[in-house]
Amino acid sequence: MDPRPSRRRFLQLTGAGVVVAPLVGCGDDATGQDHVDAAPMPAFPVPPLDDGELVGGVRVFRLRLQSGSVEWVTGFPTATYGANGDVLGPTLRFRRGERVRLEVENALGEASTLHWHGLQVPAASDGGPYQSIAAGATWVSEFDVVQPAMTAWYHPHQMHETGRQVYMGLAGMILVEDAAQAVELPSTYGVDDLPLVIQDRRLAADGTHPYSPGNALAMHDMMAGLRGSIMLVNGVRQLRGVVPRGLVRLRLLNGSNARAYNLGFSDGRSFVQIAGDGGLLSAPVTTTRVLLSPGERAEVLVDFGADAPGATVALASYSGEVFSQLFTGVMGTNVADALDRMTFELVTFEVGAARATSLAPPTALPPIERMTADQAVRVRPIVLSMTGPSVAINGARMTALGDAVPAAINFRIPNGSIERWDVSNDSFMMHPLHIHNRHFQILDIDGQPPPVALAGWKDTVLVAPGQVVRLMLRFEGTTDAAVPYMFHCHILEHEDMGMMGQFYIVDP
Ligand code: C2O
Ligand code: CU
Ligand code: CU
Repeated sequence: MDPRPSRRRFLQLTGAGVVVAPLVGCGDDATGQDHVDAAPMPAFPVPPLDDGELVGGVRVFRLRLQSGSVEWVTGFPTATYGANGDVLGPTLRFRRGERVRLEVENALGEASTLHWHGLQVPAASDGGPYQSIAAGATWVSEFDVVQPAMTAWYHPHQMHETGRQVYMGLAGMILVEDAAQAVELPSTYGVDDLPLVIQDRRLAADGTHPYSPGNALAMHDMMAGLRGSIMLVNGVRQLRGVVPRGLVRLRLLNGSNARAYNLGFSDGRSFVQIAGDGGLLSAPVTTTRVLLSPGERAEVLVDFGADAPGATVALASYSGEVFSQLFTGVMGTNVADALDRMTFELVTFEVGAARATSLAPPTALPPIERMTADQAVRVRPIVLSMTGPSVAINGARMTALGDAVPAAINFRIPNGSIERWDVSNDSFMMHPLHIHNRHFQILDIDGQPPPVALAGWKDTVLVAPGQVVRLMLRFEGTTDAAVPYMFHCHILEHEDMGMMGQFYIVDP
């Protein structure tokens, strides 16, 4: 399959971002790197960067949810959704301490929402299923950016429709910057700071997919979550791009509906993981693999400094290595697909001309104070289960909003309290549990302390079949007795079937 048509289309669509970023990198480099070569490097295909516009001290972003099409299958355009474009949306750059306002116009012709996954925001600004935006309406979400530097993302969260709307193409990255962060990292967007939105698609020869109008999801795709064998990164099939011959920061997002990726490089090189979902880890981790379930993020530093100009190396998923960890019993036999058992490539990096940089991976990172089990004023068991095609949390399914929600998944949590959530997985496949608003720490996994890569702040955690993962959460922020936050499995078909609960942060 010739990858060029889709890529050419994508480059057109994101022209501003790909042209501007390298020029910024050479002329106004905030990272203080020395460039030996003056010629701008060919751009790496990334979504356009959106810094918003300062209006009276508030940084305002305008997002228009719209339909479009992309030719992933030559000659057969696939109908898509995107924000300000045909597919995906701009990368939003927030700064800690600032107030942001997001004006989301819904031009899709159907109701949708936009949720800020990973951000600490008041419940009414969260963009969950209770903040549905009617077709033709505009929703305004305004909040203070209170958290440290991190990589977050946004996607629709419409009740029962999240899987389809994300599959249609609605998702984007959010970069939170923090002037107080002491660690110096590659940060020239599109040059040495690259977002990679990793997604899989199942496209028929005519460009349609199981969520296309007139199709219905098979039982099997609801159980396993919809997976496909066509990989898209940044909305591009067989993504290929030029990277500087030096240290490059990749912001990895698993934006897939259901597939986990066990990421590594085709030549076996090691890299340094510096951040997880919620920002910097407590120490850099030199590794050859990072496992991301849907919704999770990681930031890694890759050194291309020893590569010859023109050399290529691929980012691949070594899924076979973790297969028996993610699927057991009947799910392994009947529901896992071929890709779950093999290695496949996602992105090809081509090493560019020499580019001197003084940057090396940090040798240490600021410590993270660990919460301890005895701090919890309350312990909640959270049991993830599947019975046939039906998914549940604590035996309950959330099938409607409002009063119809079963009490079992309706927590009212006093502001300021620390809780321990003991999450267990009674099923034969992994579930990525995501909790809105509050980042948590993993206390232990099957009684063992988490490895450093999982010991930082997180909002989404892979819970393998049979595992017990204990989380420590501190609930604080704006109280709202009327609007809840959601927590759910981030396999979007599971979420849409009701593998979701809600909690309110209330006055103590
Ligand atoms: Cu990424 Cu409730 O979602
Ligand atoms: Cu979220
Ligand atoms: Cu699930």
